[in-house]
Amino acid sequence: MSKVCAAAVEKVRAKGCLVAHLNGHTLALFAEGDEVFAVDNRCPHMGFPLHRGTVQDGILTCHWHHARFDLCSGGTFDQWADDLRSFPVELRDGDVWVDLAARPDLVAHQRARLRDGLERNLSLVIAKSAIALDAAGIDPAEPFGVGLDFGVETRGPGFGQGLTMLVCFANMAGRVGEDARRNAVYQGLSAVAVDSTGEPPRFTVSPLPNSDADLASLKRWFRRFVEVRDAEGAERCIVSAVRGGADDAALADMLFAAATDHRYIRGGHVLDFTNKAFEALDLAGWERAEPVLASLATEYAMADRMEESNAWRNPVDLVLILERAFERLPEGARAGGTGWAGRDELVEVVLGEDPSASVEALLRALDDGAGWVELAAVVTYAAALRIARFHTANEFGDWDTALHTFTFANAVEQGLRRAPSVELLRGVFDAAMSVYLDRFLNVPPAKLPPWEGSLDPEELLPLLDRQQQVNEAGALVRAYLESGSDPDPLIAVIVEALVREDRDFHTIQMIEAALRQFDRLRGTPAGVDVLVAAARYLAAHAPTVRAQGQTFQIAQRLHRGERLYEDD
Ligand code: FES
Repeated sequence: MSKVCAAAVEKVRAKGCLVAHLNGHTLALFAEGDEVFAVDNRCPHMGFPLHRGTVQDGILTCHWHHARFDLCSGGTFDQWADDLRSFPVELRDGDVWVDLAARPDLVAHQRARLRDGLERNLSLVIAKSAIALDAAGIDPAEPFGVGLDFGVETRGPGFGQGLTMLVCFANMAGRVGEDARRNAVYQGLSAVAVDSTGEPPRFTVSPLPNSDADLASLKRWFRRFVEVRDAEGAERCIVSAVRGGADDAALADMLFAAATDHRYIRGGHVLDFTNKAFEALDLAGWERAEPVLASLATEYAMADRMEESNAWRNPVDLVLILERAFERLPEGARAGGTGWAGRDELVEVVLGEDPSASVEALLRALDDGAGWVELAAVVTYAAALRIARFHTANEFGDWDTALHTFTFANAVEQGLRRAPSVELLRGVFDAAMSVYLDRFLNVPPAKLPPWEGSLDPEELLPLLDRQQQVNEAGALVRAYLESGSDPDPLIAVIVEALVREDRDFHTIQMIEAALRQFDRLRGTPAGVDVLVAAARYLAAHAPTVRAQGQTFQIAQRLHRGERLYEDD
């Protein structure tokens, strides 16, 4: 019953091409030799009407971007365009009969197209797949897992900015509505594709054969190999530990120890990547631990170390201060809080002008019973205040200086929640030293103007259509939250504002870490400060040209069946 009479054969032959509207489908019928072919009249690339295309030697060419299709099967010769849907045709009694039976397994097709898009860095293809899979009810965790597998399997240097953005977007996708969620999934996947393009292939290291090396030995060897910048040796320790059955906490302990054996390595990125790798496994499943964690080894081995930097050595030798402090760290893990009440006072010392006083105050807090996570949270908050108070007279690049400290501190804090260790506790002190080094960014501290507009969080969107709205954005967020309004609509607007801009690694890191912090600080003045910091950072980096958002909008319109090409 799915066969429908479309036209008289002679009529198609006379015109060469005929458009037929059948049961909600718009088909292009092409006469070619003795045969008639029926295809969807919308080019699968961007919807150009294919009856205006050209057929030569059995190949249909779309005139918009010149995608080429086998007229018989609909298969494309241009992977960025996608296969064209063709319909079985029967010529019977002088008429063209077309079988409109539903195309089998659209979801399988979109899964395959997602892989094509990742491999070839085709952002429109990725956007179409992300939208179609979401519309089919596929849990966003599935495309996230595909992107994760692709990134760690193919990118020679391993876990990097693309995978970190993928995890950040995945963490934020649950906070927003349908459109922004699909956009976040697309943006994350596309970030992985961009980051993998042009990189050398990745060749993995296998675990030690028949090894009964215990975890303590593997951890010790891992740290030693990272110390001498031997990425392959380090990777073999990681995969051997996973294959040997180490659990998530033990693996976290092993990696976080090496990530803090040197001071603030690679501006905090290594520890942040590591934290994101663990979050990726939480989202996609720990059965992926071996390839995901192994992909971190190169970052560890190649990272620059602040022992080698002038700023950490002169005029004050921060490394020496830290090394002496580490000798006084307590034995054994104490992650949780104990009712310690020195938080506000400690924040001010960490933000102060004296690194030794900052370190002593941290040690004293430990002596007074502060939990390690509690201590880390204080330093993370101090780092967020650097951004909330960042003066716009600073150089633009200095936003990133403050951002690096904040995301590193946040990663240390999350790491201590996952696997508290005295080694990782060193990261809290490193973060405090970085907050100290960033002190000039708050001279003078920025002052927010009074907000006199509406308290509708949507007001943030037109603000971010203009440059130089840093303090206005902060003022709106502060006024909104201090009015006692529900933070969730504001958070949804912030994420919406983020995904409409072109991807910027640091801005994505900033928003994601701020939202993570806000979850814990909701309803407190500190929570307001953290979202003010997020809004100010976002405003400093908006508007972009929004090209990636335009790609997403095109994919959305195609998915809805809207016309992009204004046909006559
Ligand atoms: S090639 Fe057909 S619309 Fe782009």
